[in-house]
Formats: sequence, C-alpha cells, structure tokens
Amino acid sequence: METFYNKLLENNKKWVAQQLEKDPHFFEELAKGQQPPLLWIGCADSRVPANEIIGAPPGEVFVHRNIANMVIHSDMSMLSVLDYAVNVLKVKHVIVCGHYGCGGVQTAMTNKHVGLIDNWIRHIKDVYRFHQKELDAIENEKKRFDRFVELNVTEQVHDLAKTSIIQEAWQRGQDLHVHGWVYDVADGLIQDLKVTLKNNQSLSEVYRLDL
Ligand code: CO
Repeated sequence: METFYNKLLENNKKWVAQQLEKDPHFFEELAKGQQPPLLWIGCADSRVPANEIIGAPPGEVFVHRNIANMVIHSDMSMLSVLDYAVNVLKVKHVIVCGHYGCGGVQTAMTNKHVGLIDNWIRHIKDVYRFHQKELDAIENEKKRFDRFVELNVTEQVHDLAKTSIIQEAWQRGQDLHVHGWVYDVADGLIQDLKVTLKNNQSLSEVYRLDL
C-alpha cells in the first residue's frame, strides 16, 4: 500500500500514545459521552480544520462542514446536525466559519460550469444577487472576492436564525448565540465579523415565526 495511506494509521497510533502519555484517562473520559458547547459550520476545505485552528480538543466542537459553509434550509444533513446540537447537546454557540480563498465562493462569482456542484453553488450565487450593488461596486477583484466571502458568512448566520430550530430555542429562553467568522488561510487568523445573533429581532419580519 502506498506510503501516504499507511502513514495515516501509523500517525493514529502515535497520536493515541501521545494522548495517553499526557492523560492516561483521556479516552476513558471521552467514551462516557459528549457535551460540546459549540457547533461549528465550516467549509469542507482541507486548509480549515475546525478543531485545530481554535485549539479545541476532542469533545469540544460538534462539526458540520460542506462546500462554502452553507446553511441550506432543505439540507437534511445540516438540519439534523443543527437539531441534535441545539436540542440534545444544548450548545451555547453556533459559529459559521467561512474563509478567504474559498473555491466555492470564487466559483459562484463566475459563469464556470463544474458539474453537479453547479446546483450547490447556485445558493452562493443567490447571496451575490442579494448584495449585487455592493459587490459590483468593488473594482478590485480580490477585494470583491473577500467581501463576498464575508457577506456569504453573514447570510448563513441569518439563515440559521431563520430556521424553526433556532427560533424555537430562543423562544424557550435557551442561551444560544449564532456567530459569523472568517478564517484567513494566508495567515491563520480568524476575524469575528461581529454579526452575532441571539434573538430573531434583526430578521426581516416575514421570517419571524409566531411561536
Ligand atoms: Co471553502
């Protein structure tokens, strides 16, 4: 078998040994269950590993990743993760973390046809359309791309708040904050976009559910 593949399993053994050296009860404790305070919705991009970039050990982050960190309200996988995180695990924070240089967001700015994924990218194109005036006015392409990444994250934060799952939690008085972050693959730093929502009041009225 090729070296890269074998190395993965060797690395795993080394990692287990390291963890046990630091704490002999590490896995014993994790096996008892999880109570992560955070749900992470991030991009599938290999350069943005959720736990690693925020220094979070196993057990601390519940993770959902897809292309361009999208919150699509008919996506059963995302909804199931969200429902479990909010209603069973009772996470206190949901973070949508996008990243500069996102291939999905970049493709959405073009007319490129990739394949089946075009249909996923369409959701990102919708975000462009919502903010077309602002984006079209940015002449520098790199700056327009960066801004599009930020606006896409902000849109997904609002899309989370529009779900019945989040609105019901708020209605019950559950302490739940939805945040938007952008990670810079070029320097490793995270920027908090400061678009945190903790109730449905900043949603357009049509999205507020009568609960
Ligand atoms: Co990406």
